[in-house]
Amino acid sequence: MWGGRFADGPSAIMREINASIPFDKALWRQDIAASKAHVAMLGAQGIIAAEDAATISAGLDAVAAEYERDGVPEDWDREDIHMTTEARLAELIGPVAGRLHTARSRNDQVATDFRLWVREALAEMDAGLAELQRALVTRAGEHADAIMPGFTHLQTAQPVTLGHHLMAYYEMFRRDRARIAEAAGRLNECPLGSAALAGTGFPIDRAATAAALGFARPTANSLDAVSDRDFALDFLYCCATSALHLSRLAEEVILWASQPFGFIRLPDSLSTGSSIMPQKKNPDAAELVRGHTGRVIGALTSLMITMKGLPLAYSKDMQDDKPPVFEAAALMGLSIAAMTGMIAESSFNTERMRAAAELGYATATDLADWLVREAGVPFREAHHITGEAVKLAEARGVALDQLSLAELQKIDARIDARVYQALSVDASVAARASYGGTAPDEVRRQVAAARRALGMEE
Ligand code: ARG
Repeated sequence: MWGGRFADGPSAIMREINASIPFDKALWRQDIAASKAHVAMLGAQGIIAAEDAATISAGLDAVAAEYERDGVPEDWDREDIHMTTEARLAELIGPVAGRLHTARSRNDQVATDFRLWVREALAEMDAGLAELQRALVTRAGEHADAIMPGFTHLQTAQPVTLGHHLMAYYEMFRRDRARIAEAAGRLNECPLGSAALAGTGFPIDRAATAAALGFARPTANSLDAVSDRDFALDFLYCCATSALHLSRLAEEVILWASQPFGFIRLPDSLSTGSSIMPQKKNPDAAELVRGHTGRVIGALTSLMITMKGLPLAYSKDMQDDKPPVFEAAALMGLSIAAMTGMIAESSFNTERMRAAAELGYATATDLADWLVREAGVPFREAHHITGEAVKLAEARGVALDQLSLAELQKIDARIDARVYQALSVDASVAARASYGGTAPDEVRRQVAAARRALGMEE
């Protein structure tokens, strides 16, 4: 298609290094849609004859039907999806096919196709994350009262509720979805009609093709439009941040499923066994979600590095924009689905969680707070007194609320019997009813607000 000025054909190496059809065939639906929008506009503007436009459009439908039925053929001589489609179109309808490429270039074509693809990928990721949020909110509602140890530094810190913990992830995925919406907003401009880089002398109607492809408007600068891959970087950043959140959730699932924790029993459907140790049930799906995150972050890094040195406008380096985006999208689809299944179908061992919360002196802060509130002790002094109580309980191997009143009063005479109400894990979580806090009623309020936001019935 570009051989006019060449005496020799490309070497085998050139053909191989040049070919993007092995991966960009994934763009075939977008390529057909953009070509149909373009040819309809060429016909409407009188740039080509209306009959020719109709013939080409019908021919594109025929090519699409073949792709749908047989897949896209991978012929390196046809380089990419754009030339593959055009060549097949010419086989089907003859030389009139050559009029399709009037007033366009593969540079604006690929920029348009790829935007259309990423627009769908963003929508799919958003739908997947919404499903995951629904699973989290459902389980959080079931376990708004279930007490577990809350950790900082992975040391038992204060009791929290399982519902509160799950709702923390709901918030992360809420921010991820807001990022996706912003990315979709920025992507919403159509490069088609920018041509190779400088625009075109033909009287095209860019607003018409933009509208036909569902974009808000045409891009404003043709040089920028053919060389911009920010929409792909935005997408990969959305993927990377969300993968990072999924990975943290996966890490917790892995810890919780381990025998020393024993907080969660994973569904058989998302676990594997060991070929040598019959007792094992491995959290492979969660481990792979954690592992895939490295590849997704790598995809973002890869495209940033591809783009960072490119002068305006298009350079062939940009052909390498697609594999990282396709890989990240596929990994995200799997990871989100796997975590959704794990959250929806695991069973939580809430007795075990509660026992762990009771073991770790998680209510020490409540003793200090009680001394401040009921005995007027300055917090720093209360912290010290409480430390003494923890030391004694530890030495005796008992929980804080198993120390006798005499023992507590020996540490500080201002302590009285009312303190025991503050030392239970139930009292501790119930007291933390500040906005966003862990108290069961407050968690129920958070769950109700989330259910409304997700359009779930209450
Ligand atoms: N396959 C190319 C890509 O993905 C299409 C654009 C090629 N343009 C060009 N002038 N060689 O980037």
